[in-house]
Amino acid sequence: MLFGAGMLATIARNYEDGDQMLVGAIGCGNVGFNTLRAFNAKGHQVIGFDPSRDAHKRLAATFGSSSAAESLAQLRIAEAVFICVPTDPHPENGGADLRIFEEVINELSKVTRELDSCIRVVVQRSTCPPGTASKMSKQLATEYSVNPSFLSKATQWEDSITPPRIAFSGNATACRTLREIYKDFDSPFFVSEAHKCIEMLKYIENTIDCALISLWNEYLAYADRIGLPRTEFSAIMDALGDRPRFSSVIRVPGGAFGKWCFPKDVAAAVNAMKEAATPSLILEATQARNQILLASAGDNPYSTSDLLEWRHDRLSLTPLARELLAQPSAEEPHVDPSQSWREA
Ligand SMILES: NC(=O)c1ccc[n+]([C@@H]2O[C@H](COP(=O)([O-])OP(=O)(O)OC[C@H]3O[C@@H](n4cnc5c(N)ncnc54)[C@H](O)[C@@H]3O)[C@@H](O)[C@H]2O)c1
Repeated sequence: MLFGAGMLATIARNYEDGDQMLVGAIGCGNVGFNTLRAFNAKGHQVIGFDPSRDAHKRLAATFGSSSAAESLAQLRIAEAVFICVPTDPHPENGGADLRIFEEVINELSKVTRELDSCIRVVVQRSTCPPGTASKMSKQLATEYSVNPSFLSKATQWEDSITPPRIAFSGNATACRTLREIYKDFDSPFFVSEAHKCIEMLKYIENTIDCALISLWNEYLAYADRIGLPRTEFSAIMDALGDRPRFSSVIRVPGGAFGKWCFPKDVAAAVNAMKEAATPSLILEATQARNQILLASAGDNPYSTSDLLEWRHDRLSLTPLARELLAQPSAEEPHVDPSQSWREA
């Protein structure tokens, strides 16, 4: 038993005080660990389960050994459990591979039916295609919420303690629990009863970025081909923000968008839209353009914050971005767009 009876009594008392909850995470990598760390910094008790020994050690070293669960079942003492496991591209079609997520839900469905389970809400924090929550929630004896992570690789901690947005879905009971967990966070909230709405928001945000990067890459290739100097191209990017509606549309071309979440989320959206019989021509082209950039210029090793800064109410190129843009691009090879997710 991980927590003794005394610990459980403390947790119960703290919850009645209304100022602290016990929050759990399954999968404690980038997202799960930082999620727990942020909740802990805001005064909640935390417990995490991750089969990786490194992740387990990090939990114990950061929060204490009683917060590093040896099994998923030990998370039954938590009132809310955030699932933060990978949803990488499926080897057969590039769509989100939900097998790990489904395994976790299966196990949780048993745990949440035990009499001593304290779990009131299970939270889908992994990025999953719209429709996932409606299916998964049916297996559980608890409330269900979708609460995606909006963190970026370079700013994991900052984006966890001060998230660019906090979005969650669920019925009134689930949303009340989520509000309680996030009560001390100072971020814009977006709440919906519809799980699909929050699931879709996450994909829309990521894929808009990807589509913009690919569009800028196309324009840069075109500008190079017709002999427009790079300095003139940068001048166009500077001028765009003079019109408020274009104040945030620039992205820095010259490299493929990152190998972290962007390619996998575009691939998942493409696959999901295909399955819904509303195929996305734009996202397929976004992938194809990115594949060309991967083969010619390679992955862009810089984070958005290295390349773009918010100045005078508009996105502007950083000095590094200007330097990179001044360098000529490599020749573009031919690629097969239908296989672009395989490189992600
Ligand atoms: N990394 C990001 O920037 C980011 C941002 C937003 C959303 N997301 C999404 O969050 C999810 C997690 O991403 P991540 O970057 O934290 O991944 P990660 O690989 O860093 O962490 C996932 C963790 O899950 C663990 N895990 C694997 N199988 C498990 C199982 N059966 N039970 C419990 N734990 C298990 C792994 O050991 C690993 O530590 C994905 O759906 C991802 O798309 C990631």
